[in-house]
Amino acid sequence: MTFSNIVITGASSGIGAALAKYYARPGVALGLVGRDPARLNAVAAQVRAAGAMVEEGLFDLRDRAALLNFLSGFDRTNPIDLLIANAGVLDGRRADGSIEHADMARRVIEINLLGAVDTLHAVLPAMRNRGWGHIVLVSSLAALSPLPDAPGYSASKAGLLAYGQAMRTAVAPDNVRVSVVCPGYVTSAMTDTHIGDQPLKISAEKAAQLIGAGIIHNRAVIGFPLPLYLPALISRLFPEFVIRLATKGIRFHVTPRD
Ligand SMILES: NC(=O)c1ccc[n+]([C@@H]2O[C@H](COP(=O)([O-])OP(=O)(O)OC[C@H]3O[C@@H](n4cnc5c(N)ncnc54)[C@H](OP(=O)(O)O)[C@@H]3O)[C@@H](O)[C@H]2O)c1
Repeated sequence: MTFSNIVITGASSGIGAALAKYYARPGVALGLVGRDPARLNAVAAQVRAAGAMVEEGLFDLRDRAALLNFLSGFDRTNPIDLLIANAGVLDGRRADGSIEHADMARRVIEINLLGAVDTLHAVLPAMRNRGWGHIVLVSSLAALSPLPDAPGYSASKAGLLAYGQAMRTAVAPDNVRVSVVCPGYVTSAMTDTHIGDQPLKISAEKAAQLIGAGIIHNRAVIGFPLPLYLPALISRLFPEFVIRLATKGIRFHVTPRD
């Protein structure tokens, strides 16, 4: 199965940029959303060089009017068959050991959860009318195994996983597909701000390949790498002391870039 009209949020960096390059080829129209003009322009230039048509959306996706305007405008000329809600931020415990405060948690949840839900709903009605489309929500293994150093991030990703799984069944009768991605550690600007061990980290390009393969197979949840995904899946069954012992080595703090 090939997709012709694809929108990716968070395309200016990391996994989103790698996905944009993964799908870039002649005959494909890509709508790329990000906030940083230099970074988004650089990704757009590479995607154009690979033969794809690109439309850039430079805005903060908490601006719901801008989000809806961009997505509906793109959809009018290029009916979206693949939407990847990938934009996200990480925040949490800081170098001085202080735990996250309320404003941090609210910002992370607004961008990661509400931003992705708004993104989905900006495109879902058109996909349902057409009776075709695939929506992909980028969550995290933190959705399955919450991180004590990033409670808001964990909550945003758990919410996104639940939202996507529920919505997948809700819109299946309209032939619209929903998949949720739960990556482990992936090299990106985000993991540069995560100061601590990052076991089994993979490149953004490898992550894009795994996501692309999961989409083709219409997986409900695309989790990787397997040696982290499987323990995360069954971690709810473990007693708390086992989880604390097992996760002791992956405690971290965040040094935000913005
Ligand atoms: N890297 C990992 O290990 C990992 C693991 C699990 C899940 N994830 C998830 O994967 C997704 C991509 O992360 P990444 O690692 O590729 O991080 P990244 O390199 O920091 O990229 C994040 C992207 O999201 C965009 N973004 C953030 N806030 C935004 C906002 N308010 N409005 C519009 N765009 C916004 C950024 O745009 P600008 O740069 O232009 O501001 C950037 O393009 C995130 O949802 C993240 O939670 C990552």
